[in-house]
Amino acid sequence: MNDTELVGVQKTLSPILRAKALDNRLPDPILGDKYAEQAMRGLDPDYDKRRFGTSQMGLAAVVRAKAHDDWARSFLADHPDAVVLHLGCGLDARVYRIDPPATVEWYDLDYPSTIELRQRFLPPREHYNLIGSSVTDLAWLDRIPRGRPVLMIAEGLVPYLTEAEVRRLVTSVVDAFPMGQIQLDLVSVMGWRTSKWDPTLRRYGTRFHSGFDDPAALADWHPRLEYVDEAPMNDSPVLMAKAPASVRRMYRLLNLLPGMKRSVRIVRFRF
Ligand SMILES: C[S@@+](CC[C@H](N)C(=O)[O-])C[C@H]1O[C@@H](n2cnc3c(N)ncnc32)[C@H](O)[C@@H]1O
Repeated sequence: MNDTELVGVQKTLSPILRAKALDNRLPDPILGDKYAEQAMRGLDPDYDKRRFGTSQMGLAAVVRAKAHDDWARSFLADHPDAVVLHLGCGLDARVYRIDPPATVEWYDLDYPSTIELRQRFLPPREHYNLIGSSVTDLAWLDRIPRGRPVLMIAEGLVPYLTEAEVRRLVTSVVDAFPMGQIQLDLVSVMGWRTSKWDPTLRRYGTRFHSGFDDPAALADWHPRLEYVDEAPMNDSPVLMAKAPASVRRMYRLLNLLPGMKRSVRIVRFRF
């Protein structure tokens, strides 16, 4: 493992990256991210050798990444002068997948040691900036050019923040820009409460710090903020169309459990 610098919550980037790398081996991938394999091999050259190493059960997370990509592409098509705040980016290769025009200024933010790994495993590019900081230390926001549309993406980040931290982040971004889109995903209150027993999170020494059963209500945090819509994840048509049969069967069964279908919600806001 090459992730010795990663501690606690930073380690949560690894199963998601592995899912994206394995998706790229499907005959008809959901995301088709060639950089995920490269970064995952850098992080752990033997990532596909262990028991369950090649299981595609992580594909729901890949569906989530695709939903965020689709929303981001459509916002950037309408706002090619935007700044992008990709928060808690981990080793995700979104900027390369989307490949925005040079008029877009893109910022990837995560803890400094995650950003160091990005610099090691992923190539630099023009109009692409890295910020090594906790997202909750809002001094980073002073480094972002103002007066332009903003696209804020937080994939797999919000559950690791407290509700007060999410609220401060969202309202500060709305206050700082004339207009924009905020896309994030969050877990249900039950997902939050039960996270202390999640074996993977326990192994990483972390847990969730917030959960929401009515994500649209986040729009009440700021008078300019408006809820737009939600994208499906655990029961998404793309998962059911593209995942191998064994994975589809497993998700169909899991989705019968109360609360499972909506355990993670992918939501979009605008202002
Ligand atoms: C589940 S991973 C998701 C990574 C990436 N967004 C993806 O979907 O592949 C969560 C990421 O959030 C980052 N993170 C968690 N809390 C953070 C904080 N307070 N400030 C900056 N990054 C944070 C972690 O380091 C990790 O990279």
